[in-house]
Amino acid sequence: MRIVVTGASGGIGNALVELAKSRGDFVVGISRRPSKADLHYACDVLDLECLKKAAENIGAVDGLALLHGHGDPAIWNKGVEELDARDLLAAFEVDVVGSFNVVKAFMGNLGSGSSIVFAASTPALVGDRYGIPYAAAKGALVALARSLAKALSPVRVNAVALGPIATRWTSWISEEELAGFRERTLLRRLGDPREAAEAIYWLLSPASSYVTGQVLVVDGGESL
Ligand SMILES: NC(=O)c1ccc[n+]([C@@H]2O[C@H](COP(=O)([O-])OP(=O)(O)OC[C@H]3O[C@@H](n4cnc5c(N)ncnc54)[C@H](OP(=O)(O)O)[C@@H]3O)[C@@H](O)[C@H]2O)c1
Repeated sequence: MRIVVTGASGGIGNALVELAKSRGDFVVGISRRPSKADLHYACDVLDLECLKKAAENIGAVDGLALLHGHGDPAIWNKGVEELDARDLLAAFEVDVVGSFNVVKAFMGNLGSGSSIVFAASTPALVGDRYGIPYAAAKGALVALARSLAKALSPVRVNAVALGPIATRWTSWISEEELAGFRERTLLRRLGDPREAAEAIYWLLSPASSYVTGQVLVVDGGESL
């Protein structure tokens, strides 16, 4: 496959880049920092022109994995009283507008058998009192994925709802909170980025050829 991975410099993006390359796929990475992809474009997902230039250069692709995300810890652990519109807009801008930009830029590169995967999160399905802007943006991303599954058919569009995966996101969480995450999963541990990448890879690949408009929960049973 030829696949494009946004968030390629991040924990889960890097795991997908490495997994796909190990299976002989050609991987194009997109993030502001460099990645280990075969070809990398240093674009901000809010810079549509940069994304369009990358799309013009790379030709046809089979899959698009949107694994960028608003990673600023500043929006976490704020109650409703402390949150303001800027907190919500910051999360929506990167997750929702950024994802929409990437799809707009690359949709002309996607053939009928191709697949798009969005990185949502379990709070999109069950809510999260400590990360309200994040949960709301991820919920919007699920609705965006389902809407695009209808609008771009027969291109397949799905989302993964990830639980706690050990990347830099979990590095700024206290040991006490991490213990709580582990306790809430049925498997009593955080997920490895490679485990998230395997699920995303399956949705990108022809192995999931009759799956579209769905949310695959990859959370060790946390949300059950
Ligand atoms: N780890 C978890 O527990 C977890 C759980 C649920 C969902 N998720 C979701 O899974 C995805 C990947 O998470 P992760 O843990 O791998 O996060 P990460 O290690 O923090 O990586 C985030 C990626 O997003 C990119 N990014 C952020 N803002 C960007 C922008 N404006 N333009 C371009 N790229 C941008 C970063 O690249 P640059 O900084 O180089 O641009 C980085 O590659 C995210 O959508 C996250 O919300 C993660």
